[in-house]
Order: sequence, then C-alpha cells, then structure tokens
Amino acid sequence: MTDLGGLETQINNDLDTLTIVELKKKYLTQKGLLTKKFANIKNIPNDKKSEFGKTINRLKTLIEEKINNSKVKNKIKRSLRIDPTAPFDCNTKTNKQPHILDLKGSSHILMQEVDTFIDIFKSMGFDIVECRQVDDDYHMFESLNFPKGHPARDMFDTFWTEDGFVLPAHTSTMQNRILSNKTPPIYAVIPGRVYRNEATDASHEHTLFQCEGIYVDKDISVANMIATITEFLETYLESKLEVKIQPAYFPFTEPDCEFSISCPFCDKNGCSICGYTGWIELMGCGMIHPNVLRFANIDPDEYSGFAWGFGVDRLVMIKNNIPEIRHLRAGSIKFLREY
Ligand code: DAH
Repeated sequence: MTDLGGLETQINNDLDTLTIVELKKKYLTQKGLLTKKFANIKNIPNDKKSEFGKTINRLKTLIEEKINNSKVKNKIKRSLRIDPTAPFDCNTKTNKQPHILDLKGSSHILMQEVDTFIDIFKSMGFDIVECRQVDDDYHMFESLNFPKGHPARDMFDTFWTEDGFVLPAHTSTMQNRILSNKTPPIYAVIPGRVYRNEATDASHEHTLFQCEGIYVDKDISVANMIATITEFLETYLESKLEVKIQPAYFPFTEPDCEFSISCPFCDKNGCSICGYTGWIELMGCGMIHPNVLRFANIDPDEYSGFAWGFGVDRLVMIKNNIPEIRHLRAGSIKFLREY
C-alpha cells in the first residue's frame, strides 16, 4: 500500500464532517492537499508510481462523488408528468394508468452558482432568506433612509404597478423586514431577482440576480465587514485575494464603500477580465445607517452592523469568463449546454 501520510484516514473523517465547499477547498483546488500530492508523483519511485496514482484517483473519486451527490448543481431533477388523457379510475379517484415520464434536466448556471453561494454562506453561519418579487415604497425606499423625493431614488429606477407596488430594484428591499422580524444577533443572506428600468447591452440587463447580506451584532466594525466578505469571495473564487474599499454613496449605509478584489485571473498584472487594471469592483457595502436600524426598532447605540449587495450575474460572468450578460437569459441551447 502506498504511503499517503495518513491522507486516506483524514479524507474519510472529513467526508462526514466537512461541507462540500470545505472539502473542495481542502483537497481539490490548485493548492488542495490531493492536488499537491498528485504533483509529487514525479518523486515517487517508478515501481510505486502506478499504485500511488491509483490511490490518489480513488480518493479523488470519493470526494467528487460526495460533492456530486449533495450539490443541487449537478443533481438531475426528475419531474413526474401525469398523462391527463389516461382513463379515470372511479374507485381510486386517480388516473388508472398514469404515464409517468422521467424528464431529465439540469439547473441554469445562475441557479447552480446561487446554490454554491448558499452553501458557503450557510457554512459561515448565515440564515438564507428569499427576496420578494413585488414590494412597496416603504421597504424599497423609505425604511432604507430614502425620504420621498430624495434624489438617490433615481439610482434605482424600476417598474411600478398601476396600484403602486414596485418590482424591487435591489435585494436591500428585504433589509427592514429581516431587521424588524429578528432580534440581534442577525446574520442573513438574501439572494433574489431584481429589476432595473434600463436599456440592455453587453453588461446591462433589466432583470438580474443580486445577493444581499446583513450582519448585526454588538461591536461590529468595518474590519468585520472586510473579513466576512473576503472569506466568502476567497472560498467562491478559490483563490487568495487582495481587497480594497473605496468611498461610495448609498443612503442606507454610513460609511458607504465600493468593495474591489485583486484580479484572480492575472494576479494584478492586467487582463481582459479586469479591464487591464488588476482590480475588479464587485459590490456596494457599508455599515448599516443608524436610521435604518431605528426604522426596525434596533437601538443603534447598542448594536451596529454591516450590509452588502452584489450582482450575482456579474460574479458568475467573472468566474466563468462569460463575456455578455444577455447570454444568461437568452435561452440559447448552445450556451445552456456549455454550462
Ligand atoms: N443595493 C445596492 C445596489 O443595488 C447595493 C448595496 C450597497 C447593498 C450597499 C447594500 C449596501 O446592502 O450596504 O446597488
């Protein structure tokens, strides 16, 4: 038996205790333990090479199977279809011979990636809450410190129904509901579909996905915000990142920041993904404005917190090198097959 320095026992333990994201990070990424061991094959004596390789591959398959079985990403969804023309059975009040068709499909790349985010945020201790698809002025604006007629409302131009409801332009619309319904500490992540009333082009869409995060507790500072967002991004992008924050403006945070990462594709040397700047601006974030906490009956003298919101489409495009946002919803079979 090839000596893998106890790696096999370690993997068997980890299969039961680690999340799939942790497993992938620990063993399968570029710096993962199995990848490193495999790179070491050149130092193994020739007569032991084959056994060594086989053991590594067996362990890799074990981990991959675990990931594949638990990840919604790769789960084949089966839906049952009943044939409505089958004869009705008066005794059982069901269709006598329902033709059950096994339809195989797979989830869209955006949904696959949202599932990956959810796994990561859950492993960090966040609750996951779904965003509303229709909301009102109070949640979309007022409770977020945009008084009526505030010019910053123009940054979030969206669609209104005739009876005064709004299709949310950002997942921040959920902040007040979550802050008012829970008592701190509050750690929540809200993925959801949002709408923007804008002309579309290669990097703009009227419908997109965002992912909001809120974190409220005692003694929370900007340092906690940077550490939390960095941890998420490093896990998702599977690389060590340099980060920087720059001033921005949102009525619902104080201070407000734009969060950027060093380009994981060129190590800051400049490439087409980062527009040859070495940096990628990824999201708005900041410390939750005291008024937003007050609107939710949380005392800003006792609690503080931070929030962020990023475009899922943009992050998915960056990670998968997709050049055009409109591909994501065009329904092209060629594109969908690729992902
Ligand atoms: N809602 C903002 C947008 O759509 C993004 C954002 C910025 C969310 C700062 C936040 C935040 O929670 O604190 O542009």
